[in-house]
Amino acid sequence: MDFQPLLEEIAATLQPELGAQGRVADYIPALGRVPADRFGIALRTVDGEEAHAGDSTTGFSIQSISKLFSLTLGMRELGEALWDRIGREPSGNPFNSLVQLESEHGVPRNPFINAGAIAIADRLVSRLDAKAVTLELLSGLCGEQVAYDEEVAASEAATGFRNFALANFMKSFGRIDNAVSEVLDVYFHHCALRMSCLQLARATGYLCRDGRHPYGGAPVLTDRQARRVNALMLTCGTYDAAGEFAFRIGLPCKSGVGGGIVAVVPDRLTLCVWSPALEPSGNSLLGMKALEMFTARTGLSVF
Ligand code: DON
Repeated sequence: MDFQPLLEEIAATLQPELGAQGRVADYIPALGRVPADRFGIALRTVDGEEAHAGDSTTGFSIQSISKLFSLTLGMRELGEALWDRIGREPSGNPFNSLVQLESEHGVPRNPFINAGAIAIADRLVSRLDAKAVTLELLSGLCGEQVAYDEEVAASEAATGFRNFALANFMKSFGRIDNAVSEVLDVYFHHCALRMSCLQLARATGYLCRDGRHPYGGAPVLTDRQARRVNALMLTCGTYDAAGEFAFRIGLPCKSGVGGGIVAVVPDRLTLCVWSPALEPSGNSLLGMKALEMFTARTGLSVF
């Protein structure tokens, strides 16, 4: 299948709607000044075929899409022990909510809410130089040097009061081993990774290849681990809109408040869309529309 004309058609169809609806995240200036009318889309198939359209090579703040990579590193480093301190259920609450943590004794519902990613960052800090290892992993996965946006990382730290609250609260239950400042430094840098749609479509390729490296390097995850990441993406990857995503799109997805969404068609391809204006749950409004158009036109879905 030649995907290039389809991606161009999706970009052209959405062009008149760019910037018309939704809200760009503005809790930090570096995100607030991203123009709302940007749109990019890129995919890479298991055979290495690539297609992309619009602003597909423009770097953006990947924000919570990074929770995929924290989880990947956590699974690699800890295996089953990762699940001692993290659940696998949708939270049904906003991604930065504190409420469930109290009755659930400091164990976050899943790895894709902030508390879950912070809990993983803690376990990574105990084992490796997490900031450096993450860059090494991602640069190897997409074949280009990936970097942190230090302005975004500093702003996340300066405004991350809820994340400090979440980390301190988990620490009060004995669920965080390291200094909160050190753990959050990793978490904030992960949120501040800057990548393009094309880089993300390449880098997530192990998720449509049963864990195999997209460019033939050492396996990233085992087959079973990769399937589990996809299962968590489907049930928990898009904040409290996971039901809507499964209903409208039918693919495992992970979104970020920078406006990016990664989607996996197992055994076929990985796809990334970016458009910064968000719907109320924090997912890219036109990104969702683009994915819906893609699955409707191709019939690709896990269902
Ligand atoms: O940590 C935060 O609250 C922001 N950096 C938002 C990250 C994001 O994309 C939503 N998180 N799950």
